[in-house]
Formats: sequence, C-alpha cells, structure tokens
Amino acid sequence: MDILIQPASLDLADGFWRALDVVAREHRYLIFQEAPPLESTRKFIAQVLAKGWSQFYALHDGKVVGWCDVVRDERPDRAHVGRLGIGILPEFRGQKIGPRLLAATIADAFEKGVARIELEVFATNARAIALYKKFGFVEEGRQRQACCLDGVHEDSILMALLKTEAPQTICAIDSNPPENE
Ligand SMILES: CC(C)(COP(=O)(O)OP(=O)(O)OC[C@H]1O[C@@H](n2cnc3c(N)ncnc32)[C@H](O)[C@@H]1OP(=O)(O)O)[C@@H](O)C(=O)NCCC(=O)NCCS
Repeated sequence: MDILIQPASLDLADGFWRALDVVAREHRYLIFQEAPPLESTRKFIAQVLAKGWSQFYALHDGKVVGWCDVVRDERPDRAHVGRLGIGILPEFRGQKIGPRLLAATIADAFEKGVARIELEVFATNARAIALYKKFGFVEEGRQRQACCLDGVHEDSILMALLKTEAPQTICAIDSNPPENE
C-alpha cells in the first residue's frame, strides 16, 4: 500500500481532525472520546508549527490515515520532556505504518532537543505496548482503574523513552522507503 509519511501542515488539518475523531470514537485507545472541535484542532497544529513540536501524518491517496505527535512540556523544569500520541484508522492498522510514524516523530523530537518522551497507554492495548517496547520505551508505572470507558475501568501504563537509551536504529529507520516515493 502506498503510504507517505509527512510533517504536519495546516492544509491537512481537516484530515487529521477526521482521523482523530474516528479513533477517539472507538472508545478503546484514547483518553478522549471524540476529537476536540475542528477550530481547536487547527489551533493545535498552528502551535505544533510555531513551537517546533513534532507531528507527522501518514497519507494514503492524499488522505490522513494516521498521525503521531510529541508535544513539548511547557514547564521550564520539564522543557526536555515530550508527550507522545499516535493513532491510525482501523483499516490501516497492522501494516507497519505505526513504526514509520513513530520513527519519524521520535527522531524529529530528539533532534529538536527533547530528551525524554513519555506516554500513557491502556493496559489492554497489547499492540501499542508491543510497538512501544520495540522502540525502547520502558514501563515506569501503572495507574489502576485510571479511566472508565463505556462503563469499563482501564488501568493506564506509563512508559518513557530516554534519548540516551534509545536504540540508534530508531533514527536510522527510513519513514518513506523507496517504494513509497
Ligand atoms: C497502536 C498502533 C499505532 C500500531 O500501529 P500499527 O501500524 O498498527 O503497528 P504494526 O502493524 O507495526 O503492529 C505493531 C506490532 O504489534 C504486534 N501486535 C499486533 N497485535 C498484537 C497483540 N494483540 N498483542 C501483541 N502484539 C500485537 C504486531 O505483530 C506488530 O509487531 P511485529 O512488528 O513484531 O509484527 C495502531 O494499531 C493504532 O493506531 N491503534 C489504535 C490507536 C492506538 O492504540 N493508539 C495508541 C494509544 S496509546
């Protein structure tokens, strides 16, 4: 399948918003249950661009089918910390788009000075946890019954990746190998 990984841009705001909304409405993977309003999503992308945060989209036929971002913490004592989010439309999962998005986003965040990337993932999300571990993320804790999704309590696993510990292979992964050019 022809998938292109490319940095965030405002002209793809509607597509990103739509993809975010689909994944949020599954009520299984994200901490919000629908996308924020389109206008605040646009403002978020503008912030990504203005503040030098990292966000990449996976495009298929020009349509956004996945995203990954690392948003920098604004507290001065945590300015080296970024928080990672990722999602792919259901019909595009299991096709190794996640690793390509992660590789591009993590490499970009490290390049821009992030030294620690952290995330929160539901304990039942085995696929995401397997992927994060493959990229060197380490489990740092568990918040029991942290969320309630459609009446079911979910534990949250806290994971993080330090730049100093990240496998060198991450930055070497080509997000757009030749067959996609
Ligand atoms: C999590 C997600 C980003 C992964 O991206 P993807 O492109 O589907 O990932 P891959 O195709 O590389 O699959 C990831 C790995 O998990 C493995 N995997 C799949 N299902 C699994 C399961 N139930 N248990 C354990 N591992 C599993 C795959 O085999 C693969 O490992 P491999 O490289 O050894 O084959 C994507 O599935 C997604 O968007 N899910 C819904 C949203 C979400 O969970 N976001 C993260 C919130 S914290």
